[in-house]
Amino acid sequence: MVTMDKLVSLCKRRGFIFPSSEIYGGFQSTYDYGPLGTLLKNNIKAQWWKAVVQQRDDMEPLDASILMHPRVWEASGHVAVFNDPLVDCKECKARFRADHLWCLTATHRDESKQYAVEAGEEDEALSKGRELHQIGKRWEVSAAPMVIDAAEGTPQVCPKCGAAGSFTEPRAFNMMFQTQVGPVEGSIAYLRPETAQGIFVNYDNVLTTMRRKLPFGIAQVGKAFRNEIVTGNFTFRTREFEQMEIEYFCWPEQSAEKHQEWIDARIAWYTRLGIARENLDLYEHPDHKRSHYSTRTVDILYRFPIGFAELEGIANRTDFDLSQHAEFSGKTLDYFDTKTERRVVPHVVEPSAGVDRNVLAFLTEAYTEEEYTDQKGGKATRTLLRLHPTLAPIKAAVLPLAGNREDLVATARALAAELREDFSVQYDDTGAIGKLYRRQDEIGTLYCITVDHQTIDDDGKVTIRDRDTMQQVRLAKDEVAGWLRDRVR
Ligand code: GAP
Repeated sequence: MVTMDKLVSLCKRRGFIFPSSEIYGGFQSTYDYGPLGTLLKNNIKAQWWKAVVQQRDDMEPLDASILMHPRVWEASGHVAVFNDPLVDCKECKARFRADHLWCLTATHRDESKQYAVEAGEEDEALSKGRELHQIGKRWEVSAAPMVIDAAEGTPQVCPKCGAAGSFTEPRAFNMMFQTQVGPVEGSIAYLRPETAQGIFVNYDNVLTTMRRKLPFGIAQVGKAFRNEIVTGNFTFRTREFEQMEIEYFCWPEQSAEKHQEWIDARIAWYTRLGIARENLDLYEHPDHKRSHYSTRTVDILYRFPIGFAELEGIANRTDFDLSQHAEFSGKTLDYFDTKTERRVVPHVVEPSAGVDRNVLAFLTEAYTEEEYTDQKGGKATRTLLRLHPTLAPIKAAVLPLAGNREDLVATARALAAELREDFSVQYDDTGAIGKLYRRQDEIGTLYCITVDHQTIDDDGKVTIRDRDTMQQVRLAKDEVAGWLRDRVR
C-alpha cells in the first residue's frame, strides 16, 4: 500500500499537485494542480459527465454560480446548521469540533480509563477499542460520540496532548466563507459550501425549459468552500475543493429504489475505472449521524493511505430541499402530472463526490512499485501509475532513439503532431531511453513510441511499449493513431 508521503512526493516531483503559493511558503492546506494533475482531474470529470449525463436519458447538466442569494443558505440550513460547536484544549490549544470527538471508555478491573480520538475518525476509535479488547480480555470497551458538557461530568481527554478535562465550553463557528458583494458594506454573500443548492434553485428552470418529467436529475461540477477547522492529509480535506454532485428528482415512492440504483451505479463507475472492489466499502449512516430529513445515507469509502474514508456520499434527502426553497422563496416548486393530476414536491437522491478525493483515490489505486528484469538481465525497480486508459494524463510519449539525428527527430516530431490531433502526447528526447521510459511510467503514460534508425532507413515502423506489461510491438507509423484510438476508451 502506498504511503501518503510517497504520493505527495510523486505529485510534486512529476507536476501533479503543488502546494499553493509555494514561493511564499504555501498557504493553509491549499493546493494547485500542476500540468499532469490538471489533465488527470479533467479526465476524471469527463468520465463522470459521460457516465452520469451523456450515457443516460434522464439527466441534464448545469453550471450554476458560486455566489448566490444569501437566503439560499438560510433555506438550506447552512446558516444555522453549519454552525459547528468548537472546543479548544486549554493545555495544548488544539481546536476540535466537539461533535467530532469520539470517546473510548475502557474499563479495567476497578480502573476506568478514557481515550479520545479526533474528528471523523470514528473508525479509529472503534478499531482502537477492538485492539484493547483483544489485548486484555478484561477490558470493557465502548465507543460513543464524546459529550463535551460539564454537566455530564464525563472526564474528557484531549486527543492531542492527553490532558484531562481541559476543554473550553463549545462555541458556535460557521464554516461558510463570507464575502462582500459590491462596494456597499453590509451586503454580504457566502462562497457556496456545496454545489447542490445551485441545482435546487434551478430545479424549476430545468424542468420547464427541458420539458422533463419525473424522474430526472441534474448534474453539476464546481468549486465549494468550507472554512474547515481541521484540514490535512494532503488534498483529502481542504477549505477549497471541487464537487461532482447530482440531484435526482423522483416520485416519493421511487426514492428508495432510485437511491439504491445510484449507489450501485456509482460503485460500478469506480470499479470500471480501475478501483478494486475490495478497496471500496459502504458505510450506512446510523440514525444519530443522519440529518433528520434523510431516510437513508450511504457513504462510499475508499481505502486511502490514511485508511478507509469517505469518497462520496449518497443521500436520500426526501422533499426537504425543495420544500425549504419553496417556503423561503415563496415560489411553488411542486411537480404536477397532467395525466394523473397528481401534485407532489419531488423527493431527491443526492450522489455527491469530491473531485479532489477522486484524484487522490485514483492515484492511490494506480501507484505501483514493481521489480523487473532490465535489458542486462539484472533486477531493477520501477514506479508506475497504472491509471485507466481514459484517465491517464498522457496517452503516448514519442521518443526518438537518437536525439542527435535530425531526420529521426523530424519524423518523431511529425508523428507526435499527428497524434496530438486526438490525444495528449509528450515528445521527449532529453535522455537515454531507459530514463525516458521510467519518467513516463511514473506519470502513467500508456504507451511509449520510439522512432529508431530502422524507422527511417528500413521499414517505416515504430516500436510501441506498453506501460503495464512493458511488452513491445512494431507497427507502421501510419497505423499508430488508429491503433491508439482502439485502446484509449
Ligand atoms: N451536498 C452534499 C455534500 O456536500 P458532503 O458529504 O459534505 O455532502 C460531499 O460532501 C463530498 O465532497 C464528500 O464525499 C467529499 O468527497 C467531498 N468533500 C467534502 N468536504 C471536503 C473537504 N473539506 N475537502 C475535500 N473534499 C471534501
